[in-house]
Amino acid sequence: MKCAFVGAGAVAEKYASGLGDSPLDLAAVCDLDADRAERLAADHGATPYADLDDLLAAESAPLVVNLTSHAAHADVTGTCLRADRHVFGEKPLALDADRALDLVRTADRRGLALGCAPINHRCDAQRHARSFLGDGRFGPIRLGYAHAHVGRVTEWHDDPDSFLEVGPLYDGAVYPLSLLVSWFGPVEAVRSADALDVWPDRENRRPERPTHTEATIRFASGPIVRLTASLYAPHRSREFNSLELHGDDGSLYLSDSGALAAERDTVSVAGAGRPYVAAPHPQPRRERRYLAGPERLAAAVRDGRAPTRGARRAAHVVAVCNAIERAASAGSRVHLSEAASGGLDPDDVRPPAIRPPPGDATTRREPDTGADSVSPPVRDAAIRLPPVGFGCSRYRDGEYVDRIDSVATALDAGYRLFDSAELYGNETRIGELLDSPGSPDREGLFLIGKVWNTNHGHVAEACRGSLAELGIDAFDSYLLHWPEAWSYQGPLSDLASKPVEAQEALTFPTDSNGDPETVDHRLEETWQRLERLHERGLTRTLGVCNVSIQQLERIVDVASVPPAIVQIESHPYRPRSELVEWCHARGVRVVAHSPLSAPGLLDEPVLRDVADAHGVAPAVVALAFHVDRGVVPIPASNDSGHIVSNLAAARVRLTADDREGLATLEDPGFER
Ligand SMILES: NC(=O)c1ccc[n+]([C@@H]2O[C@H](COP(=O)([O-])OP(=O)(O)OC[C@H]3O[C@@H](n4cnc5c(N)ncnc54)[C@H](OP(=O)(O)O)[C@@H]3O)[C@@H](O)[C@H]2O)c1
Repeated sequence: MKCAFVGAGAVAEKYASGLGDSPLDLAAVCDLDADRAERLAADHGATPYADLDDLLAAESAPLVVNLTSHAAHADVTGTCLRADRHVFGEKPLALDADRALDLVRTADRRGLALGCAPINHRCDAQRHARSFLGDGRFGPIRLGYAHAHVGRVTEWHDDPDSFLEVGPLYDGAVYPLSLLVSWFGPVEAVRSADALDVWPDRENRRPERPTHTEATIRFASGPIVRLTASLYAPHRSREFNSLELHGDDGSLYLSDSGALAAERDTVSVAGAGRPYVAAPHPQPRRERRYLAGPERLAAAVRDGRAPTRGARRAAHVVAVCNAIERAASAGSRVHLSEAASGGLDPDDVRPPAIRPPPGDATTRREPDTGADSVSPPVRDAAIRLPPVGFGCSRYRDGEYVDRIDSVATALDAGYRLFDSAELYGNETRIGELLDSPGSPDREGLFLIGKVWNTNHGHVAEACRGSLAELGIDAFDSYLLHWPEAWSYQGPLSDLASKPVEAQEALTFPTDSNGDPETVDHRLEETWQRLERLHERGLTRTLGVCNVSIQQLERIVDVASVPPAIVQIESHPYRPRSELVEWCHARGVRVVAHSPLSAPGLLDEPVLRDVADAHGVAPAVVALAFHVDRGVVPIPASNDSGHIVSNLAAARVRLTADDREGLATLEDPGFER
């Protein structure tokens, strides 16, 4: 679609830098400074103008991108709408709420699309942050701190006049306000506000509006947020565009509410009483382009739509800024009129929704991030799983360790799949953790349980025992831990609370030769017993661990509920490619246990080379090896740094050379 840029300053350059691979075609550029218009136009084969009316008379481009200075936005947008052009404008939509709403109404009346920056709620970091808000772990959000420290524009901006004219409220504050309005809906009242004129004496150029504003605002849906917007506090201050939200049960920190991409530490989460943990975005780094807003608007127009929803939100943000100014000058509370929030679509006022459960859909796409995390196709019937899960086994280098703090860290870091088992003996403690404040709602998690070898004839007792200890109604997947059956030793409840010898006697019964005391439970029959658990709703899916293809074929031959998950030991030494392909061809997801603990693996030079090339740790590559082929690794770790970095394995994109190098590690003779 042809478009015209109005305004050819610094921000226009940023928008223009994306034109090379954009469906938008820049036909014309207008700027009051004719030289500036000519320069930008010449770079892109567009026609320059110094007068907007001339441009609108001569050009038929249906979309105008309004990149003028803050105070000119409303006039330029109004002129373009009256000339029947769709408009996407830089923030703010206007400096006056009535004016902003009038623009929205004009667009609606004329059937035109109107959009406004920032569209930060669509960027990866902000969407990722919202997914935590939506999973119930924080309880009701009651309090927030939002910073918008634009800084001394006279020091860092080539052309600061526009900022000095409008102050920090109509520039920096628009980022957190837009995001908060998209998350929590309209603001009901400005409870208090103060505006200061702090500015260095040495500066010749002085702002025309207060340089620093503090306000406490209340959203109609409940949260109260203290906003600080400043031209005085340097933009390098510790809090720049940060947003911190506190709920009854935990806190969320977004280091930059205007971030164009999700860096590893952009989002952090603290469960109740726990320290903040970085919650890395699981998908590869994607930086949102400046042109994304206009392109989105153009796509809607091509589809025959004329959206103004983003503009209504932008108009409300202007109303909030106006109300903050009024509250500061009157020294009293200011309620926003119904008209000021009435411009918002009811859809926009919905508090963050609960995410669909990770295993509910039949595709493997993560809806919130919009990216498919793995390359090879797994048949459509496959359940959707997070790209990386967390292993809850207490075994570590031949010893039992306590995993509960690590499981808590993993929950905060954003793991959603947890691999438990009655053998691990810690289901009660995991259950207490899942039930405690700061944990996500059950629906946001994928919980795996496993029946141990001694319970093949007692799967119902084992499953019910595990569910009771975990305090849940059903597993997302219940797995047979091993195909081999050993003699029954009674229920295996609360193993971790028993002395080690007692645990081992219960779980590893031996005959007089010291060999495992096996019993004859046919695999097919055990599977059919598992199917009855599924029928009774005790598990949503079934699976099996440590199997061969032959054993899987035996199961599939008799199964009325086919396996949804196969869990096997796998790592670059043992890729198990044939089994993985067998599973994927049948819509069965493969989970790789023990992905890191193969002796020597993390010291392999090939792994190190690939890790260096991607700037990550070797362990992350060992996990990315699985993500890359659609297999879900479930690393365990007691180190919070490892827990966080392992989760980020899903962001690594391996190259063909990487795959070739990792393939050389395959060792058919590998044994632990
Ligand atoms: N179905 C089955 O039969 C079966 C069998 C075995 C395991 N599993 C499942 O698979 C899970 C994982 O297997 P696993 O327990 O054998 O452990 P693993 O994940 O293969 O390896 C854990 C070891 O790797 C280290 N590690 C983790 N992240 C690291 C990193 N980024 N850099 C360096 N070292 C790192 C850990 O040390 P730190 O603690 O210092 O990070 C720990 O020593 C188990 O918890 C269990 O859920 C299932």
